[in-house]
Amino acid sequence: MKFFADTAEVSEIRELADAGLLDGVTTNPSLIHKSGRNFLEVVGEIAGVVQGPVSAEVVALDYDGMMREAAVLRKIADNIAIKVPLTPAGLKACKALTANGAMVNVTLCFSAAQALLAAKAGATFISPFVGRHDDVGFDGMQLIADIRLIYDNYDFRTQILVASVRHPMHVVEAARIGADVMTAPPKIIWQLFKHPLTDAGIASFLSDWESTGQKIA
Ligand code: E4P
Repeated sequence: MKFFADTAEVSEIRELADAGLLDGVTTNPSLIHKSGRNFLEVVGEIAGVVQGPVSAEVVALDYDGMMREAAVLRKIADNIAIKVPLTPAGLKACKALTANGAMVNVTLCFSAAQALLAAKAGATFISPFVGRHDDVGFDGMQLIADIRLIYDNYDFRTQILVASVRHPMHVVEAARIGADVMTAPPKIIWQLFKHPLTDAGIASFLSDWESTGQKIA
């Protein structure tokens, strides 16, 4: 499963890339707002740090506006994936952009029916938001399992990008189901390392090692 970082904070992206943990980045208008940076500038910087896809979202709601904004975003770098919302105009733009060689991430997916539409429109990625789905009393992971089944039934090439990830078990469950990608805030990716028995094991090994009085040199 590929790991994308869901952030527009360049220092956090660099840290994950240096650790060899990063396959791509997703941004959205809220994350750009949080970063306080200029959209085109920060996305350009991110695209220089990560080799994989960097999602940049259009804000127009009509087809022509989306296509205009996508043209601007595509000029930033070759690894930009255009993020469009799951609407009729968004999927029309998805079809035109992918036919023209662009990567497209269809965002704000909350049902298997929507995911089916995105695959038929040739989306590179479909982003089902598991955390927001859980928040309103649905089962986000069941949605991922349903999409996996449907895509496999018809050999759709659209990659399932699990989004709105809130904790490490979302990542583990997504991997169990066979999602292609997950995107999470950096903090959650670092939490994947955590286990109290690892910490306790290191502490006891170090204490015993000190008792030997030896050095590795
Ligand atoms: C995905 O591309 C979105 O940017 C993101 O995962 C949304 O997550 P949130 O529900 O935590 O805002």
